[in-house]
Amino acid sequence: MNVVIEQTFPSLTWAIRQEAMYPGKDLEAVKLDDDFNGIHFGLYVNHALTGVVSLFIDQDRAQFRKLAVLPHMQRKGLGNLIIQNLISFCKTEKLSKIWCNARVDAIGFYEKNGFVTSGEPFSRNHLQYIKMELLLG
Ligand SMILES: CC(C)(COP(=O)(O)OP(=O)(O)OC[C@H]1O[C@@H](n2cnc3c(N)ncnc32)[C@H](O)[C@@H]1OP(=O)(O)O)[C@@H](O)C(=O)NCCC(=O)NCCS
Repeated sequence: MNVVIEQTFPSLTWAIRQEAMYPGKDLEAVKLDDDFNGIHFGLYVNHALTGVVSLFIDQDRAQFRKLAVLPHMQRKGLGNLIIQNLISFCKTEKLSKIWCNARVDAIGFYEKNGFVTSGEPFSRNHLQYIKMELLLG
């Protein structure tokens, strides 16, 4: 399996977000107002775009959003590769913290990558989320 992660365009993330995170929703619903201010990464397996994540830097910290791996390729370690690549990128950029609003059902995934929860869970669009963060030192 040939796996490569590289920066990509916002528009290329949308179909993966839709299939992995919002099946049944229209493509418009998966776009973010901020997409064109973000840095987007794509993970390619044998040249096919299979996973994505979008990073939004604010001073010395960064929020990532819409981490998604295609359903049939989940649980093969690809999410880990994306998140570790993101952490390395943020360290290179000398950022102090990386955080996300995690879906509650993905908490275990983030904990395995060193993230800790912060604050209380909240609900948005019928899904439960909690803020999770990792200090970069
Ligand atoms: C969450 C997601 C990105 C994880 O990607 P993935 O490629 O399936 O994850 P990996 O295979 O790299 O898993 C890494 C580790 O986390 C664990 N893990 C993966 N998903 C998990 C979950 N939802 N809950 C708990 N643990 C999880 C794996 O078992 C693995 O553990 P191990 O290292 O002990 O074997 C992927 O499942 C996904 O796209 N889900 C749908 C969209 C979504 O929920 N995105 C996150 C929004 S906050």
